Amino acid sequence: MEYHVGMKNIIVSPSILAANFGRLGDEVRAVESAGAGLLHLDIMDGHFVPNISFGPKVSSFALKNCNLPADAHLMVSEPLKWAPEFAKIGCEFISFHDEAVPRRELSRAIAEIAALGVKVGVAFNPDNDMSSLSGIVDDIDLILIMTVFPGFAGQSFLESGLNNLHKASAIRDAGTRKPLIAVDGGVNLDTAGRVISAGADILVMGSALYASGDYAETIRRVKALGACRPGGKTS
Ligand code: DX5
Ligand code: ZN
Repeated sequence: MEYHVGMKNIIVSPSILAANFGRLGDEVRAVESAGAGLLHLDIMDGHFVPNISFGPKVSSFALKNCNLPADAHLMVSEPLKWAPEFAKIGCEFISFHDEAVPRRELSRAIAEIAALGVKVGVAFNPDNDMSSLSGIVDDIDLILIMTVFPGFAGQSFLESGLNNLHKASAIRDAGTRKPLIAVDGGVNLDTAGRVISAGADILVMGSALYASGDYAETIRRVKALGACRPGGKTS
């Protein structure tokens, strides 16, 4: 695929939480052939968030049924306990929440997960003040900005998350490693343009993608919003 100056290559990352689990294999193959770039695996432990989703076994099934790389979004109280399971099944990224780890242990947790041979993401809730990002921005591969409070698919996009996205973009741009920025929660065709303009590279989409009749058309329309993004780079 060719990109033009001013066009940014937006990655659409389907959250399988919103997929039909009765035919999960078909669901991951369908989003792959529709142009998705990264599977998003929402892992919930019923403790860090008030919901339980699925674990390594279902995640592994999803991965084996397509060729997409995956991000394991760990919404769990003990990310260091569970990260090896998701590295073992072949996740490319493992993301854990800033709130799940005491501030003084954040750098060590990042190093421990990186040592598993995966890319490391750190997620920030909408009420997070983002003050810890500057200290780690050059040690991570992904900044995961939550635009809903984690726990459930199908929630409405929160403006406080968009404010965090603006802060994260500025902190990322001031650093050297320049990790990717993903936005997660309530992303749909109405909100996607704003998050792309604010610096997002990866748009996680659950309900809005899986409820749309036509995955390819929805992904095409989201990616088209990356065209002529202010400050967009040639990809
Ligand atoms: C929320 C999850 C999200 C969510 C996305 O706890 O982290 O990934 O499933 O779903 P939508 O796009 O429906 O908000
Ligand atoms: Zn998620």
